This record gives sequence, C-alpha cells and structure tokens, in this order.
Amino acid sequence: MPISNNRYNLKQFEARVSYNRKLLSYPGATYYLIELLTSNKLAELAPGQFMMIKCGGDTLLRRPISIHSAPSDNVFQLLYALSSANIQDSESRVNRSCEVKSSNEIGKNLLSKLKPDDKIDIIGPLGNGYSISNKAKSLLLIAGGIGIAPLRFLAERAVTMNKSVTILMGARFPNGLYPRHLLPSNANVITIVENCDNNSLYKEGLVVDLLPQYLEDHDQVFACGPNAMYGAMSDVLKKCCYKGSVQVSLEVRMGCGFGVCYGCSIKTRQGMKRVCQEGPVFNIKDIIWQEVKI
Ligand SMILES: Cc1cc2nc3c(=O)[nH]c(=O)nc-3n(C[C@H](O)[C@H](O)[C@H](O)COP(=O)(O)OP(=O)(O)OC[C@H]3O[C@@H](n4cnc5c(N)ncnc54)[C@H](O)[C@@H]3O)c2cc1C
Ligand code: FES
Repeated sequence: MPISNNRYNLKQFEARVSYNRKLLSYPGATYYLIELLTSNKLAELAPGQFMMIKCGGDTLLRRPISIHSAPSDNVFQLLYALSSANIQDSESRVNRSCEVKSSNEIGKNLLSKLKPDDKIDIIGPLGNGYSISNKAKSLLLIAGGIGIAPLRFLAERAVTMNKSVTILMGARFPNGLYPRHLLPSNANVITIVENCDNNSLYKEGLVVDLLPQYLEDHDQVFACGPNAMYGAMSDVLKKCCYKGSVQVSLEVRMGCGFGVCYGCSIKTRQGMKRVCQEGPVFNIKDIIWQEVKI
C-alpha cells in the first residue's frame, strides 16, 4: 500500500521511465540520466532534496538519489554514477576527490537496466534542500564530479530567481565533465580536471584549488561533492578567514530516508542530526568530519 504520512510529510508514488541513458563515460565511471514521469503533480521540489528509489531485484532498502532537474510539475530527472571496478586505488591524489565510490552498486546497476515505460516506486521528495537567500545577488556553486547532480537543479532555480550564478565544476578527466549545454546558458561555468593528459584546453587541478579566487565575489556558497572535497574546502575557508556560510550536501548511508530509523544520524556542532531529515544540506561549519562516514 502506498505510504502517505503527514507527520513525515512524505509521499510514495509510481513513476514511469521516459528515458534512461548514458550521459557520459570516463575511465572509472559512467553517468546516467533518467527522466521519470508521474501521473499526478509532484509536491514542490527544492534543489538539494532527494528521492528514495526502490531499485528492484532483491534490494530491501531504497537508495537516495538527488533531484537533478524538474522540467515540469510531473516530470523530474535523476543523475547517477556507476563506477568501474578499475578505480580502487585509495591513496592517489586522483582518488582524493574520487566522487564515485567503489561498492557493489547493486541498486544503481538495477536502475541502469530500466527501459522506457518501466515503472519505478519512489518515496519523496525528502530532506531539507539548499536555501537561497532573497538578499543574495550572486551565488557560487562548487561541484565535484557527480556532485553536479543536485547543483544543476539549484543553478536552474537560482537563474529563475534572477541571481547571478557561477559554477566551479571539477572532474577527474575531461570527458567526465558534465555537458555545458545542460546547464543554464547564462550561468558562468568554470571547469577544472584532475588529469588533463597534456590537453591544453583544460585547466588541471582540483575544484577546491579555484575556491580562493571566487569566494569573496559571491554572496552565497553551495557545494556538493565527496567528503574529501569538503575537508579540503574547510581548510581553504579557514585559510581565507571566510566568514560566510557554505551549504554542503552530505552523503551518508541511509536506511529509511525519512527520519524513522536514525541510521543516518551524525554528531554535529549543533548536536545529533539525521542527515535525511535535518539535512542532507548543512552549514559546513557545523560538520565534524571525523563523524561523517559512508
Ligand atoms: C542525500 C543523498 C543523495 C544522493 N544523490 C545521489 C545522486 O544524485 N547520484 C548518485 O549517483 N548517487 C547519489 N547518492 C549516493 C547513492 O545513494 C549511493 O551511491 C547508493 O545508495 C548506492 O547504492 P547501490 O545499491 O548502488 O550500492 P551498494 O553498495 O550495493 O549498496 C548497498 C547498501 O549501502 C548503501 N550505500 C552504499 N553506498 C552508499 C552511499 N555512498 N551513500 C548512501 N548509501 C550508500 C545503499 O543504500 C545500500 O543500502 C546520494 C546519497 C545521498 C545520501
Ligand atoms: S535514514 Fe532513517 S532516519 Fe535517516
């Protein structure tokens, strides 16, 4: 029976696959873009919120995936990454920002097999998303790899609110960069890649390397990426004596996704928080990084 619980303000619904295609591939991972249609209007979606997806097979737990875009009130997209087995070196600089974790990826593998017209069971939208201040004129978005997933939606929303948007986008390889034409045309997009292979078209480095030169020119800062990226960001923010708040989306393992099981609880400077309920977006200053484990 579908869940609809006002206490937790959650909705269970069935969506139909419109398409599910490979968007990009690089040595280490493939990103898929899935578009889903619902027969009823969706609750209002906020950038940074996520859906709990029933992936099928014998998976018991649903998988959390961020809302990537919502072209209309009964259509939304998800972007998900599947890693290749050949990126398991945990020590290299490359892996410092390895956004796609090696795991069995049973759920995402099942998701990648879905075809147009297949049905999928979803609970959402869930969580507290990013918060755009009415006063802010210019926003800085920092995306590490698959971290672009919720940030595209945030960029789209910010542009409709007439904010100026700069996206700093990092990838491991040039062909791991999210396609520019899928981002709002009036957003300023700066890219950086970890391995250029001597291709002079690209700037080489980590996305965090760009931060100091853009930080002060923006009223609000938002990020999504691996925890290692947030750790490096925290160091840069300290060095730059940055006083503003930086909203980051945390990735931890989730059981229920809607606040019941406490499986996603983390200790923060504001006490214990459930990432699925009080997050997944938090102020970076509130996070105690040693407490966040995937
Ligand atoms: C709020 C949130 C938003 C997310 N958004 C995206 C997104 O937009 N695109 C994307 O590609 N990935 C996203 N992820 C990560 C994604 O949920 C995990 O990669 C996925 O759950 C792994 O499931 P699996 O079956 O493919 O892997 P398996 O390793 O087979 O999963 C086994 C179990 O571990 C859990 N698990 C394993 N790794 C993770 C992980 N990194 N995070 C949470 N649970 C994990 C699974 O839920 C499952 O219960 C998000 C995670 C969170 C918490
Ligand atoms: S995942 Fe169950 S409380 Fe957060």
